[in-house]
Amino acid sequence: MKLQNRFFILYTSSVLAFFQFGQLSAQELERVTGLVLADGWQAVQANCTECHSALLITQNSGSREVWESRIRWMQDTQGLQELAPELEATILDYLEEHYDQKDSTRRAPLSKHLLPENPYESNGE
Ligand code: HEC
Repeated sequence: MKLQNRFFILYTSSVLAFFQFGQLSAQELERVTGLVLADGWQAVQANCTECHSALLITQNSGSREVWESRIRWMQDTQGLQELAPELEATILDYLEEHYDQKDSTRRAPLSKHLLPENPYESNGE
């Protein structure tokens, strides 16, 4: 094989690999609710967006236990209906998988000299 052809194949396969990787790493979001498009999203959309926006869900995160405690809280205080065990499991599987507890923020706070002056900062008095 000519050297030129080898380069062509190498180039083409790396471009393809790049696009494939890009597709795998990007989470596809449902257009209206912004929920991650994956098994169970319809159950969440159908049962969890009647009283509030899905944003309240997508902006939150937590372990399965935390999600379950939120559901119990809404059932005890906000009129969320009892969910059939299988349906609740589907919803919890989805939330645990896609909105699991996040690691704490990785970004270090800015140094003081990079911030504007804080007018409310106590000066020790
Ligand atoms: C019957 C109405 C109702 C339904 C249905 C409902 N919620 Fe809620 N939910 C509420 C209310 C009311 C709040 C408090 C709203 C606020 O803080 O503005 C709330 C708050 C939340 C919060 C924020 C909790 C926090 O700690 O700030 C999350 C997350 C949430 N709901 C998730 C869900 C999920 C998941 C479902 C589906 C299983 C669901 N909700 C279904 C009424 C509902």
